[in-house]
Amino acid sequence: MIEFKNVSKVFTLGKRSVHAVQDVSLKINQGEIFGIIGFSGAGKSTLLRLVNMLERPTGGSVYIHETDVSKLSAKDLRKQRSNIGMIFQNFNLFHSRNVSGNIAYPLKIAGYSKSKIKERVAELLQFVGLSDKAGDYPDQLSGGQKQRVGIARALASSPDILICDEATSALDPDTTQDILKLLKKVNRELGITILLITHEMNVIQTICDKVAVMENGKVIESGEVFDVFTNPQQQTTERFIQSVQQDLPSESILKDWNTNNGGKLYRVIFKGDVAGEPVLSTVTRKHDVHFNIVYGSVQELQEQLFGNLLISLVGEETNKQKALDELAGLVDMKEVI
Ligand SMILES: Nc1ncnc2c1ncn2[C@@H]1O[C@H](COP(=O)(O)OP(=O)(O)O)[C@@H](O)[C@H]1O
Ligand SMILES: [Mg+2]
Repeated sequence: MIEFKNVSKVFTLGKRSVHAVQDVSLKINQGEIFGIIGFSGAGKSTLLRLVNMLERPTGGSVYIHETDVSKLSAKDLRKQRSNIGMIFQNFNLFHSRNVSGNIAYPLKIAGYSKSKIKERVAELLQFVGLSDKAGDYPDQLSGGQKQRVGIARALASSPDILICDEATSALDPDTTQDILKLLKKVNRELGITILLITHEMNVIQTICDKVAVMENGKVIESGEVFDVFTNPQQQTTERFIQSVQQDLPSESILKDWNTNNGGKLYRVIFKGDVAGEPVLSTVTRKHDVHFNIVYGSVQELQEQLFGNLLISLVGEETNKQKALDELAGLVDMKEVI
């Protein structure tokens, strides 16, 4: 559906060149919500702008439905662009037009009849939950409402791809969740493929099926969100994950633990089906040891459970070792201290 094949983008500023995107290859399948995460300056926006040819690659190719978009004629490019909706962090609404006027704009440009525009705008307002705001102007709206208008406008020409550049970065956490729910509805109900970029792991965790991590213009890691979250390969990825899920208590708590209780702490990671089973209690009971949960959480990720617990064991040394050996065969375990 969308494929980047060895794509690079170099900006030349006088004698200086900026390698904004470097040799990126990624495939986004139809119907997916694909997130690209990275710190500021990683090259995310540039990569996104290559999809609708707001930027042209200096190397490699971008394919949409197997068409190399850099090879399209001006006319075919216009047609292709109407198939790609885009939303932005700062909404990019026309302040002189009301909500209906903003949503109608792309339809006017595309030459729709007045009655068709009216019908489509009403339908879109309903879809994004803004029917009662049709006559309001952007300055009268909250951030979340403005982004709903942005989404309605992006959907006006019935695209099959929606690209989102930090669409929730200007919103508070509650409003972010509302907008993410709406994006999920766009994906699930309308079957629209979503490619989004963000610097917030919470966005990836909440709605994405797949994720790619970008750093210095390169994709350093990518895969199913569940796999990347539960088994990150790169330090930058770990940093993003830690922003939504602390896997260890603070140094001072660990130090206190050492002073007051001593003994070893183990990190136990449960994934998928195992998270629903009483693995810890079954194994410890069998070997006559007790476990103590010191820290941790069980979360839902892509409709699967993912548990990350810090435990200690109490009992005879030989029994503890037997329990540990058995647990190691059932769940991911790591000695922490
Ligand atoms: N039009 C441009 N001209 C020159 N440099 C650019 C341009 N657009 C982006 N860059 C540079 O490319 C790099 C990646 O930028 P960008 O894609 O905006 O990153 P991100 O969206 O991840 O913050 C940055 O170093 C930025 O300064
Ligand atoms: Mg950006």
